[in-house]
Amino acid sequence: MTGKDYKAGCPPSENDFVHDNGPAANTADEDTVNPWNVSTTSAKGVDYDKLIVRFGSNKIDKELVDRIECVSGQKPHHFLRRGIFFSHRDMHQVLDAYEKQKSFYLYTGRGPSSEAMHVGHLIPFIFTKWLQDVFDIPLVIQMTDDEKYLWKDLTLEDCHRFAVENAKDIIACGFDVNKTFIFSDLDYMGSSLEFYRNVVKIQKHVTFNQVKGIFGFTDSDCIGKISFPAIQAAPSFSSSFPQIFRGRKDVQCLIPCAIDQDPYFRMTRDVAPRIGHLKPALLHSTFFPALQGAQTKMSASEPNSSIFLTDTPKQVKNKVNKYAFSGGKDTVEEHRKYGGNPDVDVSFMYLTFFLEDDEKLEKIRQDYASGNLLTGELKKILIETLQPMIAEHQEKRKKVTDETVKQFMTPRPLKFNF
Ligand code: TRP
Repeated sequence: MTGKDYKAGCPPSENDFVHDNGPAANTADEDTVNPWNVSTTSAKGVDYDKLIVRFGSNKIDKELVDRIECVSGQKPHHFLRRGIFFSHRDMHQVLDAYEKQKSFYLYTGRGPSSEAMHVGHLIPFIFTKWLQDVFDIPLVIQMTDDEKYLWKDLTLEDCHRFAVENAKDIIACGFDVNKTFIFSDLDYMGSSLEFYRNVVKIQKHVTFNQVKGIFGFTDSDCIGKISFPAIQAAPSFSSSFPQIFRGRKDVQCLIPCAIDQDPYFRMTRDVAPRIGHLKPALLHSTFFPALQGAQTKMSASEPNSSIFLTDTPKQVKNKVNKYAFSGGKDTVEEHRKYGGNPDVDVSFMYLTFFLEDDEKLEKIRQDYASGNLLTGELKKILIETLQPMIAEHQEKRKKVTDETVKQFMTPRPLKFNF
């Protein structure tokens, strides 16, 4: 049995029978959000409330944040407190089960398209690390080197090398080797019987029509792309990792990711019950804005839109001063009189991601909006927040040896008894 047919831009609702297929393409006032393109005409960025309605997910409201605090016994991460992780699927179910001593595992990933990672790439990993710490659960991280080979003009060798290099940046976020398995698709697919079996099962239960509808593939896309979604879906099922879960099929998966990855997991959730698996739960994040403004996300292929993890303090300073879109007024006099607009100001947005102190952040917002704080001063605060953070990352990454990477990337049991 295969699932329902979908039209582009119209994800399957959880409710089968009230399903309106609607228009095939985005309507004029709709933001574009898919795994390959994120754009909007609004300087404030994507309208995330509308996206929740369009994608059929649920808002992470105060009640859920409070519940996460209650169940984990920890102060919620500022990404939760500030709505950076803003949408979810089935998180209440995960917490219900956890309260009844039923554990779960985390799955996230990275498409290694180059050696250069930027600060935005760290968001899901910083948050995943926090989740792993507070819930004490296993984590699997998929490096989709196969995906990047299929989509970009790169060799297989380069994609695999980028996977290993990017793994170093991920490890530098502080993951525990006893609780974390990082894998390259190119390596693990070929070596794991169970993983490939799940891929094939998923492939059998999704038609070409369905992936065309979900992902917008056309007749001229190579067949590798068309079947790739099954490979991103497979880690959502615990049986793909027999070394960790000892063959158990029923360990629930929770996927923290940016919301542009949701199409993969809508497909996964649609297939799951038909092949006897649990649907993965999800936590979705907003996008990390480009320096030039929140109309699009930071992109590693546009060097001036991004702050890279390899940037020197001087580069950080120059990029912020030169490119970070300002919500300030044209002259100091006007700024003092009317105040700046933090809602469109990229430096302020970056501080919401990286300045942990809530009170400090709120004071900056008020001072900027009232005109007390000038754009140059706001940028200075951001520069002084980013420089030590990036330097610290570089220090930690330097300490990640090839041997450490190998440990993380070797299929093995983790420190959990399933
Ligand atoms: N497709 C993602 C990318 O290009 C990588 C990825 C694979 C991923 N599995 C994932 C991201 C699970 C989030 C969660 O970056």
